[in-house]
Amino acid sequence: MKQIIDRGAEAILIKQGKNLIKDRIKKSYRLPIIDERLRKQRTKKESRLLIKTSKLIPVPKLIKSDDKEKIEMEFINGKKLSDNLGKLKNADEVCKKIGENIAKLHDNNIVHGDLTTSNMIYSNDKVYFIDFGLSFESSKIEDRAVDLHLIKQALEAKHFDHYNEFFKAILEGYKQSKDHKLTLKRLEAVEKRGRYKRAY
Ligand SMILES: Nc1ncnc2c1ncn2[C@@H]1O[C@H](COP(=O)(O)OP(=O)(O)O)[C@@H](O)[C@H]1O
Ligand SMILES: [Mg+2]
Repeated sequence: MKQIIDRGAEAILIKQGKNLIKDRIKKSYRLPIIDERLRKQRTKKESRLLIKTSKLIPVPKLIKSDDKEKIEMEFINGKKLSDNLGKLKNADEVCKKIGENIAKLHDNNIVHGDLTTSNMIYSNDKVYFIDFGLSFESSKIEDRAVDLHLIKQALEAKHFDHYNEFFKAILEGYKQSKDHKLTLKRLEAVEKRGRYKRAY
């Protein structure tokens, strides 16, 4: 049985049995040649990163990809954190796990690029990261600081009541990163410089 579970900004998500198909649909507001290139680029990047990150943190298992617009992956049965983080009794613990995941990615020179709680699913006491279409490889402290800034902004927007507490718990987990001190110092500079816009 096929079931559309989400129509995101980027893609249609179809559940098919135990799997999920992420189909990056055509965007008519983009020039066709650019649209095709972007969809292909993000699809390829996402499937490559799903393999790479699977050795580091919980992510859905990649089943297959056409390297153009479709990715088939494991469906994670759990709670999307954008809807649930504020309701969880162990929210602080979950935030700490978020921070640990980010630290592991950064220590392996991976920057997620779209860190929000809608790209995280809590399942079996693990925090799964999804949506690697905007991820990239970088060892720059600046890129890591911007990644942290994005999740901080996302918390502020979506979980306003608890955002200080949640971000503190994320940083507690992030201390695992070997460069955490440098990155946090840079985060201060990023924040002083003014609002950093999400890249879409
Ligand atoms: N592997 C998965 N298992 C369960 N739900 C998923 C999975 N991948 C995506 N989703 C759901 O679909 C939504 C959109 O997927 P996402 O990869 O974030 O696409 P977009 O680029 O459109 O944001 C997610 O917020 C989540 O609710
Ligand atoms: Mg998403």
